[in-house]
Amino acid sequence: MEKQKNIMEMDTVALDDANNAIVIIDQTKLPYETTLISLMTQEEIWNAIYLLQVRGAPAIGVTAAFGIYLAAKQIEKDESVHTYIEFMEQLIKAKDYLNSSRPTAVNLSWALDRMQGICEQNAEKPLNQIVTLLHDEAVEIQEEDIRVCKAIGEYGLSLVKPGDGLLTHCNAGQLATSKYGTATAPMYLGHERGYHFRIFSDETRPLLQGARLTAYELQSSGLDVTLICDNMSATVMRNGWVNAVFVGCDRVAANGDTANKIGTSVVAMVAKRYNIPVYICAPTSTIDMNTATGDQIHIEERPAHEITEMWYKERMAPEGVKVFNPAFDVTDHDLIAGIITEYGIARAPYIESLKEIWNKKTQEN
Ligand code: MRU
Repeated sequence: MEKQKNIMEMDTVALDDANNAIVIIDQTKLPYETTLISLMTQEEIWNAIYLLQVRGAPAIGVTAAFGIYLAAKQIEKDESVHTYIEFMEQLIKAKDYLNSSRPTAVNLSWALDRMQGICEQNAEKPLNQIVTLLHDEAVEIQEEDIRVCKAIGEYGLSLVKPGDGLLTHCNAGQLATSKYGTATAPMYLGHERGYHFRIFSDETRPLLQGARLTAYELQSSGLDVTLICDNMSATVMRNGWVNAVFVGCDRVAANGDTANKIGTSVVAMVAKRYNIPVYICAPTSTIDMNTATGDQIHIEERPAHEITEMWYKERMAPEGVKVFNPAFDVTDHDLIAGIITEYGIARAPYIESLKEIWNKKTQEN
């Protein structure tokens, strides 16, 4: 019998080109069931993103890139499509559809725009060649994600020392990316280098990404991880057990305000009280220079049942109670000690440092 793979040996998102499918680990079933699902239609891809079967800003971007490639492949085979204009008409429809699955993580529109750019730069080429270029671009987006996470890990590791206590919120781990994660990348690299970190993982209500995913992947990799409820971070910080906070992000505005999983801003406020630095681990694909401040970030609201009954054996709230369920919150830039990107660490004032990072990126590409 084939040995069950460790979760860390599995791809969060993989293209199964031969079967015109995207294969993902169904993250709603983790940690007790490791189920791979094949997404073949655009509806299946949309649903998997909306339902958080695949989640985390970079992983959503990679899924969308593969999704638009599969859409292009199908459109090109459609006998009623002859011209570039006809091809693009349908492709843009597919793009807009996928883009509507989740609003806050900018990586979704970033990946889709990048794919559209490939079409526009090669508009004069035969459609089958454009499809091949889209394939290559989607694969590049995925490979880039791995390189970016590794670079963030190195910069992040330079900010801490062996034996440190680190706290994280939600899952900005390997399961949210193609490898290493963003907030977890310094943890994994440190682990490889004998840093012996003590990690605290917030459980992350209401969808429990911290309990089900972060605690699981860190434990599976042999790291020292302690699970705490979201309302316990002040206690572990006051006890002196936390030296730094590393979290991911879904959209960073030009002034450094950062949207990440609901509860992140509370962690940042508590950390400020105890003089603990909060670092946002941000691939430049998550930085949105077109959004001036956090006030302009669209925060996704999700259904009430995620709070009232999901994960409980029986409903835990009165029928008909009003529920507010924002999936993200904005951490104000003055609570952030540094924004760690693949091009270096941005420090306040972020308006200037993020511009510098952006210029570095533009010059390199
Ligand atoms: O709703 P989710 O699970 O997609 O939220 C994920 C987060 O908030 C992550 O911290 C963020 O996407 C960064 S993942 C590297």
